[in-house]
Amino acid sequence: MGMCVGKPANVAHVSSSQFMDYAKSHHERKHRSKTMTFKKVSKASRDENCPVPINLKAFTFNDLKTATKNFRPDSIVGEGGFGRVFKGWIDETTLDPAKPGTGQVIAVKVLKSESHQGHREWLTEVDYLGKLRHKNLVKLIGYCEECENRLLVYEFMPKGCLENHLFRKGVEPISWAIRMRIAIDVAEGLSFLHSNEPDHIIYRDLKAANILLDSEFTARLSDFGLARNGPVGDNTHVSTRVVGTSGYAAPEYVATGTNTRLVMRHLTVKNDVYSYGVVLLELLSGRRAIDDERAGGIEETLVEWVKPFLIDNRGVFRIMDTRLGGRYPKKGAQAVAALALKCLHNDPKNRPTMAEVVVALEEITNMSKNVVETPSPLIASPRSCTRSKQKNRNLVHRRGLANVQNPPLR
Ligand SMILES: Nc1ncnc2c1ncn2[C@@H]1O[C@H](COP(=O)(O)OP(=O)(O)O)[C@@H](O)[C@H]1O
Ligand SMILES: [Mg+2]
Repeated sequence: MGMCVGKPANVAHVSSSQFMDYAKSHHERKHRSKTMTFKKVSKASRDENCPVPINLKAFTFNDLKTATKNFRPDSIVGEGGFGRVFKGWIDETTLDPAKPGTGQVIAVKVLKSESHQGHREWLTEVDYLGKLRHKNLVKLIGYCEECENRLLVYEFMPKGCLENHLFRKGVEPISWAIRMRIAIDVAEGLSFLHSNEPDHIIYRDLKAANILLDSEFTARLSDFGLARNGPVGDNTHVSTRVVGTSGYAAPEYVATGTNTRLVMRHLTVKNDVYSYGVVLLELLSGRRAIDDERAGGIEETLVEWVKPFLIDNRGVFRIMDTRLGGRYPKKGAQAVAALALKCLHNDPKNRPTMAEVVVALEEITNMSKNVVETPSPLIASPRSCTRSKQKNRNLVHRRGLANVQNPPLR
């Protein structure tokens, strides 16, 4: 195996032509320093969550092979569009590979194959997670870039991703209190990114699969491959190719074109607020952002399914996750549903900021603290859902959303 090579700071925000230049000069920089230090630290990363300059460890491929027991299939903990994620162990102090079950547990993400898109996302993730530290962002420990191999090494999140807790069969359902804590954590993580100066960071791929949970169920945003800097100065938006995951993407950002690869669109932090609204609905309902089973083979978004129920205040009880067994504060659930609708407002200007969402959720949880949670008599009945399903199926069809695919549009 060859040497791992260093990467200059802040090279991730590049166009594809810049990326080619980078790849060329990058080749020439082979054999340089094995540890990256990001000199340019943004304001956000200098806040109290980030008291020290950040170094990333450059691992060799062999280090990570040893740490993951030769990338054994039984150490796979997840898989996304980028590739597989393996569990491994390293020494806490030296960061050298350690015996399984000893030292610090890590998660190692392996890029599937050498592609410009994948490499660019890898660089973006190294760049953002290398310089940002916050209690609600997953911690990147290091990386490996050796020959064709591109890997990322994170702190391991023992409870995995939120998606598994909400939707996987056989997994114990999470309580209302934990759901609300996760909602606040995610809102704080996004608010931190959005308040970065001078260019707000737009996360662009908020979804349950990218929200990881530590042993205490503290939520952390992961997967920064699609993150981007927002507009600076007088500009109101940046224009980008549409990426992200349908079902979570804001309507002004996604345009239904002739196929699922879409046009250039305006990107602002308010696109993340919309996706956050979808995650809130998932936490309330225990239903996926997009699902083709709900509507008998036709893909249907959760937002379209939920909206008719939320026309009146009591309708929220019909969409609540039945696995909660009615154990949630009724006023609290209504208030969270109302907040979700605000985040999902069609006009981005009318959506709240993530900082406002944090305040609102804290108020709702404080207000609900002393309320005894009694099972609600109004758990969604399959018949009422079916009626709405039929109505929404037509809606979805008319709007052409049946074209939209669930996997990330990268
Ligand atoms: N640090 C981690 N600890 C535990 N599991 C992880 C970690 N990082 C990723 N995973 C698992 O791997 C899955 C895919 O990771 P992700 O970073 O989203 O990859 P991709 O870029 O391919 O979407 C996650 O949904 C999660 O289940
Ligand atoms: Mg992912």
